[in-house]
Amino acid sequence: MANDNNSNGGPAGRIKTGIAGLDSMLYGGIPENSQFIIAGGPGAGKTLMCFDILYRNAKKGVPCAFIALEEKPEDVIRNAKAAFTEYTDIDELIQSNMLVVDGEDPATRISEQEDSETYSFGNIMSDVEAIAKTNNAKLVAIDSFSVLRMLIGDNLKYRKSILAMINNMKRLGITSLITTEIKSSERKDIKFGIESFVFDGIITMYQNGQEDKRTLTLEIIKTRGTAHSWTLSPYDITAQGFRVFSLEQ
Ligand SMILES: Nc1ncnc2c1ncn2[C@@H]1O[C@H](COP(=O)(O)OP(=O)(O)OP(=O)(O)O)[C@@H](O)[C@H]1O
Ligand SMILES: [Mg+2]
Repeated sequence: MANDNNSNGGPAGRIKTGIAGLDSMLYGGIPENSQFIIAGGPGAGKTLMCFDILYRNAKKGVPCAFIALEEKPEDVIRNAKAAFTEYTDIDELIQSNMLVVDGEDPATRISEQEDSETYSFGNIMSDVEAIAKTNNAKLVAIDSFSVLRMLIGDNLKYRKSILAMINNMKRLGITSLITTEIKSSERKDIKFGIESFVFDGIITMYQNGQEDKRTLTLEIIKTRGTAHSWTLSPYDITAQGFRVFSLEQ
């Protein structure tokens, strides 16, 4: 039935982000079992937004896993607590394994063996999958994918490795948010890489203007299999999480 709700309160077949304006832009949420890129320049809020979405889902009973490849897991938790001061139950959710925050240092997985790039990538991905399996996670964030990109120089190998990763995530029934860095914070300078064509969806986050009048906006570039908002929407980061000011109802 069209009005069926799933476990996180979203429409059937969707994982609600829990951020009202963003769910409106996504016409109800992220399609279940899809793999989304969260792209943005430095400091746009990629890490915090993923954490926020996982927190809101964990609170509603959806098991989530945040995999930190760039920062230490304890730093991710500390920064989230500093930004979202009204989220007083983060530790509780972590202790109950509803929200797993774990990490993997890619530098330790670089191998000397033949075809070591693909080997390292594969190794990291199997660790990511193992972490996701520990709490039967339905929603997983990987922060950030740019680290993995550095492991594989060859475009064809890179594309094949991403496809293998996406297939594994789908097989495991996981919906994922994968952050990637884009060099420029400004919308007009954005160039999309190979990964943009293989993932199911892309949300981009921009910082525009100068320091004293900086504005934050986000937009949805694509969602496979469903319509979405085309509007560039302002957002801000508050003690109670992200707010996205969407024109969509
Ligand atoms: N306590 C806070 N309250 C409001 N905004 C904050 C707070 N702490 C950080 N921020 C904002 O969040 C941004 C950092 O967020 P985050 O670490 O998620 O960005 P990012 O896109 O992941 O950055 P990077 O590219 O470095 O990984 C800061 O630039 C700042 O604007
Ligand atoms: Mg980050």
